[in-house]
Amino acid sequence: MVEEVLNLSRTSSPSVVGLAPQRLTEVKVGTEERLPMQNTEFARVLGGGVVPGSLVLIGGDPGIGKSTLLLQVSKEVAVSGPVLYVSGEESVAQIKSRALRVSNDGHPAENLYLATETDVDRVIGQIESVSPRLAIIDSIQTVQAGDIASTAGSISQVRECALRLQAVAKSSGVAIFLVGHVTKEGAIAGPRVLEHLVDTVLYLEGDPYHSYRLLRSVKNRYGATTEVGVFKMGSSGMVEVANPSEAFLAERRSDAPGSAIAVTMEGSRPLLVEVQGLTSPTSFGHPRRTANGVDTNRLLIITAVLTRRVGIQLSDQDIFVNVVGGLQVKEPAADLALAAAIASSARDRALPPDLALIGEIGLSGELRRVPQLEPRLREAVKLGFSSVVLPKRAEERADLPSELKLHEMAGLSEALEFALQS
Ligand code: TYD
Ligand code: MG
Repeated sequence: MVEEVLNLSRTSSPSVVGLAPQRLTEVKVGTEERLPMQNTEFARVLGGGVVPGSLVLIGGDPGIGKSTLLLQVSKEVAVSGPVLYVSGEESVAQIKSRALRVSNDGHPAENLYLATETDVDRVIGQIESVSPRLAIIDSIQTVQAGDIASTAGSISQVRECALRLQAVAKSSGVAIFLVGHVTKEGAIAGPRVLEHLVDTVLYLEGDPYHSYRLLRSVKNRYGATTEVGVFKMGSSGMVEVANPSEAFLAERRSDAPGSAIAVTMEGSRPLLVEVQGLTSPTSFGHPRRTANGVDTNRLLIITAVLTRRVGIQLSDQDIFVNVVGGLQVKEPAADLALAAAIASSARDRALPPDLALIGEIGLSGELRRVPQLEPRLREAVKLGFSSVVLPKRAEERADLPSELKLHEMAGLSEALEFALQS
C-alpha cells in the first residue's frame, strides 16, 4: 500500500485556456538539433545525440556505472556549453575525484557545474541560474518536493519531482537526465512509474562481475527503441566497445566440446556470442539444469526437445549453460546454438571452430526462421566464420554474403548431425 498525498494548494481551473488547437499543416517543426558529443555509442542509443528539452530516464542496478557514464557524458557536452550535475548521493569532492579519474586528459571540464541538492525546487532554481544545456539529476530517488509529505524515493515524490523537472525541460529547452536506481525485486516501485512520463528510457545493465555494460533504449520519442550501446567498465571509466562480437569471442577455446557460436541481434546490431554447455552425470538422483545468461525455461524446453526429438539421453545428466561475457541472450534465434552446445558436451565432440548457428527450435524439433538474417550473416563473415547452420529459407535471396557456406536444415536432429559429424 502506498500513501498518495493530495496536493490541494495547486488548483487548476479548466476554463483557463492555453493555446488554441492548431491545424497539423500549420504546425512548425524545428530542425531536431542534437547536442554535440564524442561518445558515439551513447549518442547512437539516444537516436543520434541528446535532444534539447528532452527528459531522459537512465535506470539500472546500484553500482552498475550510471554516475560514471553520465559524468563522462557531461564532460563531453560541457565542451560546447554549461552542464549542471546535481547529486544527492555524493559530495562535490567525491564527484570531482571521480571526474579526474575518468577524464582522459587529466583536466576537469571548465563548464561543468556541480551541486549537492535534494530539494527539487532549489534544483530548478539552480537550473535557472546556471541555464545549462544539460542537467543531470543523480538520482531522482534522492530529490524531494518540500510540500509533499512522503519520504524521498516514494512514488508520489518521484512522480511529482519528475513532473516539475519535465515542465522546466519543456519550457527552457534544457535537456534533463534523471538517474533512477532499479532493484531487480522492486521493479514496480521507484523509477518505473516514470517510464510513461519521460521522452526516453535507457537501462544500463550488465553482470557486476564482468566489465561489459549494455546501454539499452526501451523507449525513445526521438529514435529507434531497439538500440544498444556496449561499454566496458575500466579503471578510468566506461570505454566504448566498437566491435563487441570480437571482444566477446576473444577468449574462446574453439577446440573444446560444449562451445557454440550464436548470432543474436541486439537492436539493429548483430552480436556473435559464445554459448557454453556442460553435461555431467547427476550424483543425487534429481538432475539439475542451471542457466546463466539464458532463460531457464528456454533451457528446459530445449533439453526436452533434445531428449524426445533427437534422442540424446539427458535424464541422468546435470546440464549447465553459460553465455560468455555476462551477457543475457533472450532471443529465440540462439536456440540452435544452445542445443548444439549441450549436444556437443553430451557427445564430447567439439563443433567446427568456424561454424556459427542460427535458428529457433520448435517443440516438434523443427528449426524456425529468424528475422534479420542478412546482418547476422554479414557479422559472421566479418569475424572470420566460414559456414553457418540456419533454418530452411522460404525464398532464395541473392544479397546474402557469398563468402559463407550456408547449410540450411529443416530439423534440429539433422542440424546437430551435420554440426557434430567432423
Ligand atoms: P557508479 O557509476 O557509482 O554506479 P551507479 O551510479 O550506477 O550506482 O559505479 C560504481 C562502480 O564502478 C564502483 O563499483 C566502482 C566502479 N568504477 C570502475 O570500475 N572504474 C571507474 O573508473 C569508476 C569511476 C568506477
Ligand atoms: Mg551513482
